[in-house]
Amino acid sequence: MVETVAGPVTGHDWWRMLSDKAFLANPYPDLHRLLAQGPVHLDDQSGIYFVLGHQAFAEVVRSPAIGRDTHYWKPGWNCDDFRTRDPVGYALFQGVQPQMINVDGADHQRMRGMWEKSFRPGAINELTPMIQAEADRLLSALPDEGEFDIVAAFAAPMPLRVLGNLLNLPPEMDDTIHRWSEALIRIADVLLSPEDKQSALDALIACKAYLRDFLAERRAAADTSLTSIILRAQDEGVLNEEETLVNMVSMLIAGHETTVTLIGSGLLLLLDNPDQMERLRADRSLVPLAVEEFMRCEPGGNMILRVARDDVTICGTPIPAGSPLLGMIGAVNRDPARFEDPDRFDVGRQPNPHYTFGGGAHFCLGAPLARLEGLIAVNALLDRWPSIRRAGPVEWRVDRINARGLVNLPVRVGSA
Ligand code: HEM
Repeated sequence: MVETVAGPVTGHDWWRMLSDKAFLANPYPDLHRLLAQGPVHLDDQSGIYFVLGHQAFAEVVRSPAIGRDTHYWKPGWNCDDFRTRDPVGYALFQGVQPQMINVDGADHQRMRGMWEKSFRPGAINELTPMIQAEADRLLSALPDEGEFDIVAAFAAPMPLRVLGNLLNLPPEMDDTIHRWSEALIRIADVLLSPEDKQSALDALIACKAYLRDFLAERRAAADTSLTSIILRAQDEGVLNEEETLVNMVSMLIAGHETTVTLIGSGLLLLLDNPDQMERLRADRSLVPLAVEEFMRCEPGGNMILRVARDDVTICGTPIPAGSPLLGMIGAVNRDPARFEDPDRFDVGRQPNPHYTFGGGAHFCLGAPLARLEGLIAVNALLDRWPSIRRAGPVEWRVDRINARGLVNLPVRVGSA
């Protein structure tokens, strides 16, 4: 069969929309409208292709002509022109470059390989008692009846402490790591303001300095933590010192706020759909499916980056080598061609082939951990209170482009 060649949809002011506060508070109506125009768009100004269709994104993550290494982006973050035009941006992107998410092929396998065994579902399931204990510790400190912000009290601290336990980081560092992570997560916004670049660079320098000392201290400990595993990989010559540091920094960002959003937005979806909350209370075997549906409806990360290494065609649209592509996951996960009634929140939805964890070689390493944390968090919340309701309006973060999440979620708990 000869594939029909079509141009990308053009003419939309993408970056204006992506930083618009009304869009960030509720991106789905605009994403639906743009997807209806076509699955692949091109922003003429930045040369970035925006991929909105489910089939189109499946082709992107499977294509051998497309990777994640931004060295292929012409003219991108790694070119000499960028170094002179934007020294802070250049220092920032160079400072986070040598990590698994930014490399392809053998380098990617080398870096991902060191932690791969620790993230297999079997190994992750053994963490259940530790994660359950963290959930119980936080929930037992909250009142049986009353009003509070469940993001601050539970959804935010739980994943950070779980990650801290896995890396053997001291609890006193949780607040500082949270601050660094808030500044550094903006790197995924792709186009950042000069102020955001500077604060991300400051956080990166401080975080690396802390981790350098921390790793030196932990060198003697031969335990099974992710920290000992990465130090062993460095000792065996698998990673150099900079790769060790940057993969540690990346783990702190990747495994933290994403999971806060999963728990916070997931609970919000249940609170706003009381019939689905009751369905889940009545049949807890649905919780794993509900967690997938949380992620489909509210993916947390709005965009997934790729770069075309060679000329390639996606859903009939030619993409030249050197072009960056951004998968718009809020559109992909609600594509009516793939999901029936895509805006309906259905805790029993099956199958649910969302792309919240990305796809291909870079599929989220921490997915089994995130899924387990979501499962334990939901069950623990339902066990803790016979009734949870919303106690006021929620606020979405509208100060960043990629990482979608709740500032707060006020709830009222008590007897039914
Ligand atoms: C709901 C929570 C999470 C979401 C939505 C999420 C999402 C993602 C996405 C979209 C990617 C990029 C995939 C791609 O480019 O195709 C990714 C990669 C990654 N994630 Fe997650 N993540 C979550 C939790 C975690 C956790 C808990 C950890 C570890 C503790 C983690 C560690 C990683 C790592 C190391 C990568 C890089 C994988 C690679 O490049 O091979 N993530 N994640």
